[in-house]
Amino acid sequence: MKALVLAGGTGSRLRPFTDTGAKQLLPIANKPVLFYGLEAIAAAGIREAGIVVGRRGGEVRGAVGDGSAFGLRVHYLHQERPLGLAHAVLIARDFLGDDDFLLYLGDNYLQDGLTGFAERAAAHPGAARLLLTPVADPTAFGVAELDGSGDVVRLEEKPERPRSDLALIGVYAFGREVHEAVRAISPSVRGELEITDAVQWMLDRGLRVRAETTTRPWRDTGSVDDLLEVNRQVLDGIEGRVDGKVDPDSTVLGRVRLAEGAVVRGSRIVGPAVIGAGTVISNSSIGPYTAIAEDCRIEDSAIAHSVLLRGADVEGASRIESSLIGRGAVVAPAPRLPQAHRLVIGDHSKVQLTS
Ligand code: TTP
Repeated sequence: MKALVLAGGTGSRLRPFTDTGAKQLLPIANKPVLFYGLEAIAAAGIREAGIVVGRRGGEVRGAVGDGSAFGLRVHYLHQERPLGLAHAVLIARDFLGDDDFLLYLGDNYLQDGLTGFAERAAAHPGAARLLLTPVADPTAFGVAELDGSGDVVRLEEKPERPRSDLALIGVYAFGREVHEAVRAISPSVRGELEITDAVQWMLDRGLRVRAETTTRPWRDTGSVDDLLEVNRQVLDGIEGRVDGKVDPDSTVLGRVRLAEGAVVRGSRIVGPAVIGAGTVISNSSIGPYTAIAEDCRIEDSAIAHSVLLRGADVEGASRIESSLIGRGAVVAPAPRLPQAHRLVIGDHSKVQLTS
């Protein structure tokens, strides 16, 4: 079995980060979200992966290389424009050949990996197998309707009146039948070749589409809030380990991973938190649920529930929360403006001024 990992796309919900980088490389607990997926694919026993890339492909290639660091042989497939998930399958035809494959969305995070799903797909090969999860608001997802034996009878994209609460998550297994389906379908109203339409095409021709339901935490990291939430979930599972330097005026509480080469002075770090190599934190309070990448500088600031990318520089921020701060971004105090109080005060009033 091969894997096809989608790491192209527009990433409009993550602008401006996607104007300068690939969203699949945004870090979760200081590791690109794509790496979690590649690790899960390798752990499932798959050895050959095609990564579909778009205009940010150079970055993805730079980060993943030939895949040997993951135990994978990686091939890159360039998608000229992000014309949909089924279009990505279409352009991967030569790489996939007639092999069964796992389709995986490179910006998704699925806790506990893909092993069981991949094993069952290999043991029972077929046209399609989908991974589903119950969601509170199915109207925002592709939704599957199942028959009594758990096979899919119908798929609907973002239905107004959903027939089930089972949403498709970004993990699919396909046999070679999918290639005819992706060639046969037409673009949807949003101009994309939809994978749900390809699967529905297979259903309409009487092909069996199996489904599996999981309740394991899963999330697409396609928006800032989702990315922060996945970061929170992953940090919840980390082990603490302090390899960096912490001076005697600092405290480190709870599970904190401080990389070698990081320095903490006169600060308080509350886990779960991760801090990358080369980062210097002084007179600040960090955490909980905060991931600070490599080579950042934090001074006289308090930061919680946030993700900082490499080289971010924050000074004099009395409280930063639920924030995503980009590579080399600078947050600095405004120069002090002359301040004045204008007062219209009645007789015998008393006013206390703090400055
Ligand atoms: P989405 O997050 O659904 O699409 P997007 O990247 O265009 O994002 P947005 O809606 O914010 O504009 O894509 C899911 C994954 O599939 C993601 O890793 C990008 C990838 N993808 C491709 O590789 N090619 C494509 O044509 C599309 C649409 C997505």
